[in-house]
Amino acid sequence: MKTLIKSNLVVMLMVVSFLLGCKGKAQKNQNVDKADQVTYSEEELYRPNFHFTPKKAWMNDPNGMFYKNGYYHLYFQHYPDGNTWGPMHWGHAISTDMVTWKEMPIAIYPDEKGYIFSGSSVVDVNNSSGFSKNGIEPIIAMFTYHDMDGEKSGNINYQSQAIAYSLDEGQTFTKYSENPVIKNPGIKDFRDPKMVWDSIHEKWLMVLAAGQKIMFYSSSNLKDWKLESDFGDGVGGHGGVWECPDLFPMKVQGTDEVKWVLLVSINPGGPNGGSATQYFIGDFDGKKFTIDASFENDLNKSEYKSIWIDYGKDNYAGVTWSNIPDSDGRKLFIGWMSNWEYANVVPTETWRSAMTVARQIELQKVNASYRLLFQPVRELTNYRSTKFKKESIAIKGDTKIIDSKAIDLSSTEINFKISNLKNSGFSFKLTNKQGDTLAFGYNHSNKNFFVDRRKSGKTAFSEKFSDRVSMANRISINPDFIGTIILDKTSIELFFDNGETVMTEIFFPNSPFDKLSIEPKDQEFILGNIEIHKLNFN
Ligand code: FRU
Repeated sequence: MKTLIKSNLVVMLMVVSFLLGCKGKAQKNQNVDKADQVTYSEEELYRPNFHFTPKKAWMNDPNGMFYKNGYYHLYFQHYPDGNTWGPMHWGHAISTDMVTWKEMPIAIYPDEKGYIFSGSSVVDVNNSSGFSKNGIEPIIAMFTYHDMDGEKSGNINYQSQAIAYSLDEGQTFTKYSENPVIKNPGIKDFRDPKMVWDSIHEKWLMVLAAGQKIMFYSSSNLKDWKLESDFGDGVGGHGGVWECPDLFPMKVQGTDEVKWVLLVSINPGGPNGGSATQYFIGDFDGKKFTIDASFENDLNKSEYKSIWIDYGKDNYAGVTWSNIPDSDGRKLFIGWMSNWEYANVVPTETWRSAMTVARQIELQKVNASYRLLFQPVRELTNYRSTKFKKESIAIKGDTKIIDSKAIDLSSTEINFKISNLKNSGFSFKLTNKQGDTLAFGYNHSNKNFFVDRRKSGKTAFSEKFSDRVSMANRISINPDFIGTIILDKTSIELFFDNGETVMTEIFFPNSPFDKLSIEPKDQEFILGNIEIHKLNFN
């Protein structure tokens, strides 16, 4: 379609130029310029090549992800009748590899009790809920009912927790007749239940966001829930409401030590404005979460206050998959690739929002404390096709790495290593003929990674979209840099130092970016081992 419009335009321009008898150089250049002003459809320009988007209409948080019988299930906050936030449903998509998704019919609809807000699902393998029939393992979903009438009436108790079960592997759900299973205790923001089977203490657990705290519940049957404790007073970021928590145990890389990870999304109050997800590392005794002393110590350092899973502006409300087989053993995560500061007004009409690539989480010991590492799931490498490899380029000034004649820069994975960067920094630039630029890289002077989308194309839809350059402190003290860059039409995901620092941002260029270059900051350096993979989804 794009090529068709483009070639028709070129033919038209040639005919016009012939009729006018234009022979001069200036006129020719004008023709070239005009031919470059292709009109792209929203679909061609902005629909991601491989990040999940609903076919049409609005999407926000990922919900209820579980794995069963070869399929990864992903549900999502969805308003099927509009392209801005509205009455929430649980949309549904499935995948065999967390990379290519198939959208399924809507799984849970709002009803007289309210909209269906965020939540989670588990596979009830032992039928502790009693919902099983004919030996089928039920899938139990838990979500928040948001009662709009209650909200309008001025009460604060309009959010409660409810469950539903599925006996057809998550395609359709039956709501439990005794809902809600947890009534509102008089807390305004009381939502986003995330259930987990605690194999250490052998019971179901559930974490819930309540104002600016997390509440911990336990249950033996997924219907009756007991409040055990809460966490959050005076710890971490409190610039906004806490939302979409997740809790899970993890082995520290290379050891048998087990620590508990608590993810907490917060909006606003993110490190670069708006929505973001912080985390805490600690211990859980079956009732109470205690933050690790060394991690708490880090949070008390002036440069932190919070430690974030992603320092870009567009990774929010992310949680992990349940029921991943022990033989796999990975902790798998996906986030919503937007930010409440502008999610409702980004320049797409047919659909709004995409998910991040699915990511694998690992826990590592850093100095005396702990950090999470996030990397794209390895399944993404199955889509690599053409590969360009460049070794040791001396970067003295602005140096082209590759352009769209060689590779489609909107479906690409780039791996690079810079050995011994010493006192320099670097800035990658994605550019197009319209003069749009997306810059990202590392500033040596303040030891910060950055993403600068201020001139990346369409930005005027919200002041908050491009009011600043996003920054992230570098944690590693390794003189060598390793990075992975995942590019789609409207997103960049940067994984630095093996995923110690991650930055995810969206952008909307006026035409596709067609050149990638790099320039040194302060001092020349050698760019080594650069590998560029086309990711092929045809
Ligand atoms: C997070 C959130 C959740 C809520 C949902 C509503 O983005 O605000 O707290 O359940 O979105 O769509």
